[in-house]
Parts: sequence; C-alpha cells; structure tokens
Amino acid sequence: MSARLNVNIDHVATVRQARRAPEPSVVAAAMMCEQAGADGITIHLRGDRRHIIDNDLHALRQVVTTYLNVEMAATEEMLKIALDTLPDAVTLVAENPDEITTEGGLDVRSNLSVVRAAVSRFREANIISSLFIDPDPQQIEAAHEAGAQQVELCTAEYADATLGARANHTEGAMRAAQELRRLREAATLAKQYGLHVAAGHGLTYRNVGAVAAIAEIQEFNIGHNIVSRSIFIGLADAVREMREAIERQG
Ligand code: PXP
Repeated sequence: MSARLNVNIDHVATVRQARRAPEPSVVAAAMMCEQAGADGITIHLRGDRRHIIDNDLHALRQVVTTYLNVEMAATEEMLKIALDTLPDAVTLVAENPDEITTEGGLDVRSNLSVVRAAVSRFREANIISSLFIDPDPQQIEAAHEAGAQQVELCTAEYADATLGARANHTEGAMRAAQELRRLREAATLAKQYGLHVAAGHGLTYRNVGAVAAIAEIQEFNIGHNIVSRSIFIGLADAVREMREAIERQG
C-alpha cells in the first residue's frame, strides 16, 4: 500500500495574504484537495501569521473531513490554540522568524522536557503528536523518549541534493543517494521504536518516488510543489499527479 498524502495548503494562503484579500479561499482549496484524493490537509500556523491565520484553522477544522495536521512551534500560545481547536495531529517544528521556510528539524534532544510536556498535553486531548526532525538516530531516540507517536523526517537535504544532481551530475547524484540512505536508515530505526513515520519538505513530482519506495514511510506532507503546479494545471490535477508519483515509487 502506498503512503498517505497530506497536502500542505500554506501557499494558497500566501497568495491571499499578498493582497490581504478574501481570495483564494483555503477552505475551497482544502475541499478540492480532498475530492482529488488527498488523505489529509496540512497547514503551518506560524508565529508571524505570514500565510495561514487563526481564522483559517478554525474554518478548516469545521470542513476538513479527512485528517487535519497543524504544524507549529512548541510555544504556549500555539499549544493553547491546538488544544482549543483540536486538529487530528500536531507536528512540532523548529521556527525561526527570519527563515523563508522551515530550515531543518526540531532539536528534540536539547528541548526534551518542553517537547515531552507538549506531547503529554496533546495525548490527553487525543491529538496525535508528530515531531519534525532531521533523519538523525539521536533525534529519533529523543522523539521516542518524548512519547511522540510519529516522526516526520525532514527531506530538505535530500531534495536539495536532487536539484544538485541535475546541475552537477556525479557529485549531486552521490549526495542524493547518500541522503536517501540516511532517510531509509532513519525510517527503519523509527519503525523499530514503534513510531509512525512521515516525511516532507522540498519534495517534488520528480524526487518523491525514491522516498516513497521506503516502505516504512507511511505519510507525506507536500505543499510548495503541488501549489506551484496547480497554477498551470489546476489544484485537483496537481494533487492527482503527486498521488501518482508517490504510487510509482521510483
Ligand atoms: N513538513 C513540514 C514540517 C514543513 O514545515 C513543510 C513546509 O511548511 C512541509 C512539510 C512541506 O514542505 P514543502 O512546501 O516544501 O512541500
């Protein structure tokens, strides 16, 4: 069975916020993604609200019928919002106000007590806890110690290497193969700890297949490439194409 696909619709909100206009509607986008076969919807509520805003989360909680995953930093403000709106899952991420996008995994090892406390509050509220981490054995062990149900492996280094693989053939291809091996080993270890395994960041129609071939990875969170493609072929077809790329596994 192929991995589930949660479509990250942050950049639908990015277009809206560029004009502070009512359109495009993230609610309409979420419904269209679900109808096109997405297994869930992912949003990132950032501290600076640069794309998704609080009202979006409230509205999406009402309409998303598949699975709603909310990425957030482990701050008290965000924890309260999650406990108030009750998404199906929360993915804790590292957040830096100056970054263009999430720059890497959360350092769970160095923030173990904060993460463990957040996970325990989510568990009481029946919210699944996922931790966005680099494919690093120490972080996987820490995620297990924190009591999380899931890890999401950051695929940014792999994705970056695949872009390099096109620009500089041998060196880029070797780096991509190395990053893929790190992901495979991390996914195997996480599974051994009994964690569910997701992956995401920077994945595209071209590079997702090799990651989808890792049997331990059960879920993908993909946004930018789907929303980019949707400009040319429409959102529903963009979701279908990504689903097919995942199912092809290569
Ligand atoms: N997973 C996490 C934890 C993220 O922070 C992001 C970006 O918001 C994604 C997945 C999706 O990345 P992309 O937009 O590059 O597909």
